Amino acid sequence: MQQKPTIILGIESSCDDTAAAVIKNGKILANVIANQSVHEQYGGVVPELASRAHQQNIVPVVEAALKKASVAKEDLSAVAFTNGPGLLGSLLVGSSFAKAFAMGLNIPIIEVNHMQGHVLAHFIEELDSASSTKKPNFPFLCLTVSGGHTQIVKITDYFTFEVIGETIDDAAGEAFDKVSKMLELPYPGGPILDKNAQQGNAVYEFPHPKVDGLNFSFSGLKTSVLYFLKKEIAKNENFREENLNDICASVQKTIVDILIKNLKKAVKQTGIKEIAIAGGVSANSELRKQIENLKGMGCNTYIPKFEYCTDNAAMIAITGYYKYLEQDFASQQVVPNARMKL
Ligand code: KG4
Ligand code: ZN
Repeated sequence: MQQKPTIILGIESSCDDTAAAVIKNGKILANVIANQSVHEQYGGVVPELASRAHQQNIVPVVEAALKKASVAKEDLSAVAFTNGPGLLGSLLVGSSFAKAFAMGLNIPIIEVNHMQGHVLAHFIEELDSASSTKKPNFPFLCLTVSGGHTQIVKITDYFTFEVIGETIDDAAGEAFDKVSKMLELPYPGGPILDKNAQQGNAVYEFPHPKVDGLNFSFSGLKTSVLYFLKKEIAKNENFREENLNDICASVQKTIVDILIKNLKKAVKQTGIKEIAIAGGVSANSELRKQIENLKGMGCNTYIPKFEYCTDNAAMIAITGYYKYLEQDFASQQVVPNARMKL
């Protein structure tokens, strides 16, 4: 008799994107995202509005994913969902839906740590295997950079993660977003700053933080950009507009230089030469370029496809798939943890 395939529905609702994905035996069948435009007018995510939008989006997004995958809900093996870290109200919508949906189908639920999901996005396989990206070999180091996290993680197997460096204040994505706001760029700042930076030259210099070990700090950069702008605008009130692309390129280069410097240190310290990047900021053009410099140290580098960098449910479904193989299921009593650690 043919073995039943393992089909996982993944649900992601930790911040401002409502997403659902279907993965069959590790291969992606559907990856659907509803972005929430309601936050644009506020220049940042408003948590209460995010949870309301998740409530509106979750049913149509799951339906769309199942339809795109041509999978009937009765064929699902389990439902995996982000249980933290993230915004509590947003997490509650995804986790409550996942629990109820799975209970109705009498199938298990699998809780997923969002940051583990970002890392395991490297293991998503495409239906057409030729278009899959290469998977890192264990053990590997992953620079995980998002709106709330900046970490260097040592990954020994699918479930063993050790954070060996992290930010002591702002995350790298937060630095991109806060500087974008100072430059009066629209939300979401990171990708727009990146676009402008690609038209400019990194002609301005900003100081690097002095932090111990493999840790990061980005709050000082924000302050030095603020004072730099104040000083230059006092001399020329059109300074920002006239030099926008060069300012963006300079800030972007500084952030990426800081990230790469510590990653190189981590390679020397651990001797591990399998190096990956993950999380929203891994979509950044300068980071994707600079990570290739590590090849000069004899490293193999792994960059996720764009659609698996920023928040998505495919990464939740693939993590769910590996947890399913271990029969690592959650109870219906599980509750979201907004500050869940790796
Ligand atoms: O992983 P993610 O989608 O959500 C969180 O888990 O936080 O990451 C979002 C972060 C935001 O700070 C966003 O500005 C940043 O990733 N980001 C970028 C780029 N695309 C997204 N930052 C710099 N350059 C980009 N191209
Ligand atoms: Zn994320």
